[in-house]
Amino acid sequence: MNKIDSFPYPFKENSYRYSNNSIILNPPNSIEITSKYENEILLKRTLLKTSPSHCYQALPTSFEAQWEIVELVLNHLITFYPHYFELHKRNGNWILHNKILKEEEHFIFGDSSSVNGEPMNFIGKHVQEDLLYMAQRDADLYLDAGHLCFPSNWSLAFKLGMRFKEIHEPIPRFNEKSLDDRILRFIKNIDQGNPWTRKNWSLMAGDRLDTSLETFEVWGKERKNVTHENVGQIVHLRVEVQKLFRLPVSNGLLFTIHTHLLSLEQLSLNKVWLKQFYTILSELPEYILAIKGYLHIKTLY
Ligand code: HEM
Repeated sequence: MNKIDSFPYPFKENSYRYSNNSIILNPPNSIEITSKYENEILLKRTLLKTSPSHCYQALPTSFEAQWEIVELVLNHLITFYPHYFELHKRNGNWILHNKILKEEEHFIFGDSSSVNGEPMNFIGKHVQEDLLYMAQRDADLYLDAGHLCFPSNWSLAFKLGMRFKEIHEPIPRFNEKSLDDRILRFIKNIDQGNPWTRKNWSLMAGDRLDTSLETFEVWGKERKNVTHENVGQIVHLRVEVQKLFRLPVSNGLLFTIHTHLLSLEQLSLNKVWLKQFYTILSELPEYILAIKGYLHIKTLY
C-alpha cells in the first residue's frame, strides 16, 4: 500500500468548522500498526531518553489507571495483532513478546518496580500512539498523565493537571455556542466498551513528529523556508487519529493519538482530495487558519 492509500484523510464536507466530529470506533481497537512502526518506535525511545520531561508527565493519582491502560493496550495488541504480539501469564508473572522488534518484556502486572520506566511509558514504547489519561472527578475531566512523544505544538508539562476546558482555552471560539460544554458532556457520558474516534488536522512545514512547544525554536523556523516552488514537498497535512476509551476501574478515560503526515505533493495525487482541500482552505475563516498553521503559507499567494 502506498502512503496515500493508507492516509486518514480527515474531511467529508467541503467546509470545516470546529464541531464534535466523533464517530463510534469500530472495531474497538486503540492501536494501529503501520509500515512506519519500527522507525517511529525508535524515534519515541530516543525522545523518551533525550527529552523525558516533554514526553512523560504524571500525577501520583494516575498510577493505578496507568496499569489499566497497560492492560487495555495489551489486550488490543494480542487481539488485533496476534501475529505480532503474544502475552503469557504465569503465576502473576507476565511476558510480552513483541515479534516485530524481537523483544521480550518480563514483568509483574501492577508492580511498577518490575517495568523499565512508568507503566504508560512501558507500554507506550511498543505502540506508535501517544497515550493520555483523563481522570473524571467532580463532574469534570483532568489531564492526570501523559505519554506524549509527538505533540502538535503543545506542552504536556504545561497542561498537566488542567481541566478539559482549560486545556482548550487557547483555541479561539472553541466555547462559541457552548461547544466546549457540549463536548465535555459527551466525553463524560462515554460508556465502557463503546469507544469513539475523531480526526484532527493542521498544516506544518517539515515532517517532524516531535513538534513540542518546548522545541518550537528548532522546528518552527522551517516555516520561513517555504517558497512557492518547494511548498508541495515541505508543507505537510498533519492528521491525528484520536480515540477515547472509558476505563472500567478508575472510571477515567484513555485518549490515544496516532499522528500521520502527508506532503501536499503526495496529497495532490488524489485529485478529489486536492480539490476538496483547496475549497476548504479557501473558505476557512482567519481564526481557524491561524491555529491550523496556514497563515504563513497563505502569505505566499
Ligand atoms: C479528552 C481528551 C482530549 C485532550 C486531552 C485534548 C487535548 C488537546 C490539546 C492539548 C490541544 C492543543 C491546545 C493548544 O494548542 O494549546 C487540543 C486542541 C483541540 N482539541 Fe482537544 N483534546 C481532547 C479531546 C478533544 C475532543 C473530543 C475534541 C472534539 C470533539 C477536541 C477538539 C479539539 C480542537 C478542535 C482543537 C484545536 C486544534 C486544531 O484545530 O488544530 N479535543 N486538544
